Amino acid sequence: MNRINKIKQLRQQLADWRAAGESVALVPTMGNLHAGHLELVKQGQLRADRVVVSIFVNPMQFGEGEDFASYPSTIEQDVAQLEAIKTDLLFTPSVQEVYPHGQKAQTVVAVPGISETLCGASRPGHFSGVATVVCKLLNMVQPDLALFGSKDFQQLLVIRHMVEDLCLPVEIVGVPTLREADGLARSSRNGYLTDDERSLAPALYRILCKISAAIAEGNKDYMALESEAMHALEAAGFNPDYCSIRNADNLSEPNGEESRLVILAAAYLGRARLIDNLVVDKY
Ligand code: PAJ
Repeated sequence: MNRINKIKQLRQQLADWRAAGESVALVPTMGNLHAGHLELVKQGQLRADRVVVSIFVNPMQFGEGEDFASYPSTIEQDVAQLEAIKTDLLFTPSVQEVYPHGQKAQTVVAVPGISETLCGASRPGHFSGVATVVCKLLNMVQPDLALFGSKDFQQLLVIRHMVEDLCLPVEIVGVPTLREADGLARSSRNGYLTDDERSLAPALYRILCKISAAIAEGNKDYMALESEAMHALEAAGFNPDYCSIRNADNLSEPNGEESRLVILAAAYLGRARLIDNLVVDKY
């Protein structure tokens, strides 16, 4: 596997592949790779001739007091895992390479509306940081397609919205959430959990499943269901941030017209902020 840190060298490699008529997929990550990330690579390999993985812990998407400084870095294991599944190229730019004029002078991409609710309300500026770095990575690699996990449901919608609004010539592919056997969504932040917290953590998914079953049975009192979920999360040992039932296409409040709903939740367990979601087809 080729590992490159500089945009110039990245572009040379990509030009060679393009000249040979090969298609390219991009999988942006922040490293500390797990099976969920590797699933994105595998899905990329099914759809394109070459797969580029980026590892960049993006300072712009972390707020004050968040875990930027302590975000887990496991580059050697990451490289070994990517080599084992025959990834073509790993791009690991420095902060200086991505933000040469500094973060304050960086042109930013803001996706209004959808960025401001749920995780965006709890983490102001987060989605602008994500949109900016993803836009830059898309421009550096110019892939035919880019793959993102549905685990970060709001992030996926923000990116789709940005790509449409900015007419970026790339197909965005959403990949279903990869879970542990007990239902817990795979996440780099699961590593923050103590053994006791780890055994409590699958309750998050179980609670989403319960709400989903109630909706499927025809319960339309979404406010009551949200409040039930918040209480269930507290009872299970979480400190919940939100649990919300929304239109799965645009995260607006349901009005009865939508065909798909999504139940989204964010909750702290110890120092880990866990997120998860479940899409419910209404009909
Ligand atoms: P990171 O948290 O490293 O996730 C990288 C990609 O892996 C994202 O698209 C995320 O949704 C996906 N992913 C994480 N856990 C998953 C799981 N259990 N199943 C399927 N996919 C999963 O998300 C980011 O990094 C950053 O915000 C990034 C998009 C790279 C921009 O900095």
